[in-house]
Amino acid sequence: MARPRILSGMRPTGALHIGHLTGALDNWVRLQEEYDCFYAIVDWHALTTDYASPGAVRENILEVATDWLAAGLDPARSTLFIQSLVPEHAELHLLLSMVTPVSWLERVPSYKEQQQQLAEKDLSTYGFLGYPLLQSADIMIYKAEAVPVGEDQAPHVELTREVVRRFNHLYGPVFPEPKTLLTETPRVPGTDGRKMSKSYGNAVFLKDPPDVVRQKLKPMVTDPARKRRTDPGNPEVCPVFDLHKAFSPRETQEWAAVGCRSAGIGCLDCKGRLADHLVGRLAAIHARRPAFAARPDTVWDILEAGAVKARETARATMEQVRAAMKIRY
Ligand code: TRP
Ligand code: SF4
Repeated sequence: MARPRILSGMRPTGALHIGHLTGALDNWVRLQEEYDCFYAIVDWHALTTDYASPGAVRENILEVATDWLAAGLDPARSTLFIQSLVPEHAELHLLLSMVTPVSWLERVPSYKEQQQQLAEKDLSTYGFLGYPLLQSADIMIYKAEAVPVGEDQAPHVELTREVVRRFNHLYGPVFPEPKTLLTETPRVPGTDGRKMSKSYGNAVFLKDPPDVVRQKLKPMVTDPARKRRTDPGNPEVCPVFDLHKAFSPRETQEWAAVGCRSAGIGCLDCKGRLADHLVGRLAAIHARRPAFAARPDTVWDILEAGAVKARETARATMEQVRAAMKIRY
């Protein structure tokens, strides 16, 4: 029996960090056991915000793909590809735009949020408004039954379900309604306590060697109440403890919490243990990565083969869509 199909996507932001691991990749790797997985690097989505400076997209794609492979996404089992190498996504996006009220897109929460957050960019564009509908096309063109995403993307999958219902109602049952496979994402703050992000300069990257990981954690922000070694602290307000929760085993979390509250340990001890576990967690990634990092051609070949495979499915879906919409000639 065919395995149920899932699709997810990631924007080509460049080197991936440990937030991507807990937020997506760990889960994506696991899902390969049970699902027929399609994972897309969504370069058109990157252009919705970075249209004025597209220069980095190509190299960012290579970084993302290299980190995917290092993290354990397996091209023998999953289809790894670049969105724009499957132009059928754009055709479906266009056709979906015929039946999608503008108001559905305007009320997606990320629309106004992102416009405010990225106020330095002019995001009053047609393409940016259509961002979630392009995402719907990504999902629908493979007739994905489920979409593994974090909480922030749930409204986009919800929109997709509405678009599917509308399409099927107008033209007949072509698409399944995709389920959201919600990934429980622990908070992964950066070294300055803000959300981890490459653009904040506070990220621990998957490719950072052990000594760099340790160096980055040493000055990490802690509970400000712990000015001196003898001051007790509260782990629940400490970003280091958030990382323990994401990457250390239970015993270490206990040890850190108790030692913090009693001033039995110092913050440097606490960070040292965290670094041990994080470095341990990254070891398998570091073991796989050099083979791919040294052979970018191999990585591009994998993405191209993925696109060839993705296109077979995408083409077949578009045949049905054109027939349903009476434009199959
Ligand atoms: N919008 C998603 C994000 O920012 C990326 C994405 C694009 C995606 N297309 C998708 C995720 C389809 C899931 C399914 O993370
Ligand atoms: Fe944070 Fe650990 Fe220091 Fe407590 S001991 S404040 S949890 S780094």
